Amino acid sequence: METVTVLGAGYVGLTTAACLAHLGHRVHAIDADAARVHRLQAGEIDLLEPGLPEMVRAHQQTGHLSFSTDPGSRIGGSDAVLLCLPTPARVDGSADLAAVRSWLPHLRRHLSPGRRIILKSTVPPGTQRQLVTVLDRPDIAMISNPEFLREGHAIHDWLNPDRIVIGADEPESTRYLSSLYTSLDAPVVETDPTSAELIKYAANTFLALKITYANTLAELCEHIGANITDVRTGIGHDPRIGNTYLDAGPGWGGPCLPKDVRALVSTGTRTTTDLGLLHALLETNAYHQRRIVTLVEQLLPRPLTGARVAVLGLAFKAATNDLRDSPALHIANLLAARRAHVTAYDPAIDASATPTAGQLTLTESATAAVAGADVVLVLTEWPEFAELPWHHLARDMRGDVVLDTRGKLDRTLLRGAGLHLRTLGEPFSEIAAARTA
Ligand SMILES: NC(=O)c1ccc[n+]([C@@H]2O[C@H](COP(=O)([O-])OP(=O)(O)OC[C@H]3O[C@@H](n4cnc5c(N)ncnc54)[C@H](O)[C@@H]3O)[C@@H](O)[C@H]2O)c1
Repeated sequence: METVTVLGAGYVGLTTAACLAHLGHRVHAIDADAARVHRLQAGEIDLLEPGLPEMVRAHQQTGHLSFSTDPGSRIGGSDAVLLCLPTPARVDGSADLAAVRSWLPHLRRHLSPGRRIILKSTVPPGTQRQLVTVLDRPDIAMISNPEFLREGHAIHDWLNPDRIVIGADEPESTRYLSSLYTSLDAPVVETDPTSAELIKYAANTFLALKITYANTLAELCEHIGANITDVRTGIGHDPRIGNTYLDAGPGWGGPCLPKDVRALVSTGTRTTTDLGLLHALLETNAYHQRRIVTLVEQLLPRPLTGARVAVLGLAFKAATNDLRDSPALHIANLLAARRAHVTAYDPAIDASATPTAGQLTLTESATAAVAGADVVLVLTEWPEFAELPWHHLARDMRGDVVLDTRGKLDRTLLRGAGLHLRTLGEPFSEIAAARTA
């Protein structure tokens, strides 16, 4: 059993802390947000993450997991300190490492010789090397160990990783991490710290590229009369391509992909590497988000200004309440900026506690959002949207069109309710054609 400190108790930190306690270690997590820490101490978890509240409370009760805002003497007594701190994008797109750097003086002063710092935050290639220089403690190993969990599946992914990437200069570091993650069964990629850091960015950027490629194909399908679902299936059977991350949708977003692609572009700029492909990726993703607004406009029987648009889903994906860089929220705001009246509902978002601006109003139910709508726009793939009482909702709408950007609704069911369903990547809509006729 190791005694470890986790710095940062957000999605990655809290999951890491709970899972390490689950593996039998004694874990203390430190977070700068006093309100969050007080809630955690009371066993309240504000992240929507299946299994996480139960796991946190279980290990709090055994005394193997605790929380505070104050490092006190704990770091001195830790075998390892895991950094799960935020690395948000600066205005210029580069990663802001202030939270990570802020801990270096404390770690330099208090860590005992032979201990380890494990860097789980996503940091630009070359960061570990810089931090080692600033830390100036040759007796402490700093291991790059990027995290690949997906929100909504955090516990599962942490305990069942596809791979464990270990970027270290000393073989002893790999042995240590293998013992810390003792029962995790995954291929281990041993490499140098800079390559480990790049693996994380390269993975996220590749996922973003796949999504954008799918959206580009979907738009092409609309113009040439092809079927994106069949095209996706047809290419996805090729194991060299794979069938995930190929769904057309409202573009990629969330707390990781946008900031990580931008940080990699920034690394390219800093090192004068031509990353034109990634510039195009950012621009094309923004275009596909704007395109949803254009499609809504085409489907409306009246001008967008003053029209009533019901938005279903605001979180960046289903099974999370995370709104950071959410394409759904972005598109809802774009519609509101065009002076549409937008009423939005998300099952995981507390309407009364979430501030909005302009003509965007959050509601507590899908029924309230859809009442009086000229068009319904589905932006997050919550399974419950397919189960809504569409017959009842249709009666309360002013219009009769639903644009499902996630392709999860049942066409027959909606047709039975008297609604026209429009999805991305289907041939240019007869609905819009009829409107302009
Ligand atoms: N969220 C994900 O799905 C995910 C997946 C893999 C990797 N990552 C990476 O992991 C890192 C953390 O991401 P996250 O999503 O967990 O962030 P988060 O915002 O959910 O959590 C960060 C936590 O750190 C705390 N914090 C901020 N500054 C602090 C400081 N100076 N000292 C102590 N605590 C501080 C915050 O209060 C917050 O609770 C980022 O680099 C991110 O890119 C995130």
